[in-house]
Amino acid sequence: MDISKKSRSELKGQKATILWLTGLSAAGKSTIANLVDARLHALGKHTYLLDGDNVRLGLNKDLGFSDTDRIENIRRVAEVAGLMVDAGLIAIVAFISPFRRERAMARRLVGPGEFIEIFVDTPIAVAEARDPKGLYKKARRGEIKDFTGIDSPYEPPQDPEIRIDTTVLSAEDAAEQIVRFLGMRS
Ligand code: ADX
Repeated sequence: MDISKKSRSELKGQKATILWLTGLSAAGKSTIANLVDARLHALGKHTYLLDGDNVRLGLNKDLGFSDTDRIENIRRVAEVAGLMVDAGLIAIVAFISPFRRERAMARRLVGPGEFIEIFVDTPIAVAEARDPKGLYKKARRGEIKDFTGIDSPYEPPQDPEIRIDTTVLSAEDAAEQIVRFLGMRS
């Protein structure tokens, strides 16, 4: 390809990046991701949001929630986000992405400084109390198997670029923290 990632992102006046939000179901990833998307868009940035709840209806509709399927889910999403970075975009990714290994793999697909891991840190008790879709209740009743945090593991990031403590920060403040982080780098 003759046109580089650098020239594509320069044309857009931005640094192409993956903003990778990881955390439990109901941690607040999608809410924060949407707010970041809207803020960056308002600042004239070219973004695109990939979210577990929509990608699983299309590209990944053949996948469930076994470890193997989650690994494939994240592999595909990482590849798509990597292509978006090549296109000069800021890709915002909001998936539970429970395994460290797959998040590390996603990081390796792009260049240094192009992958920003954002740990949306919500204790399981808080996520379970929110339970907007009633999924934790179903998982506790045994109606859903392999539910993250109940009978499927979540490996928290050890050294994320950004950690959001949703027990003290509102979604708006969290979005602000992320956008400020990007400003500090540019
Ligand atoms: S991931 O683990 O493969 O990264 P992903 O983010 O795509 O998960 O999908 C998570 C969403 O799927 C949750 O927010 C929830 O709405 C739904 N879901 C359905 N079954 C499960 C399950 N067993 N574990 C976790 N989330 C589930």
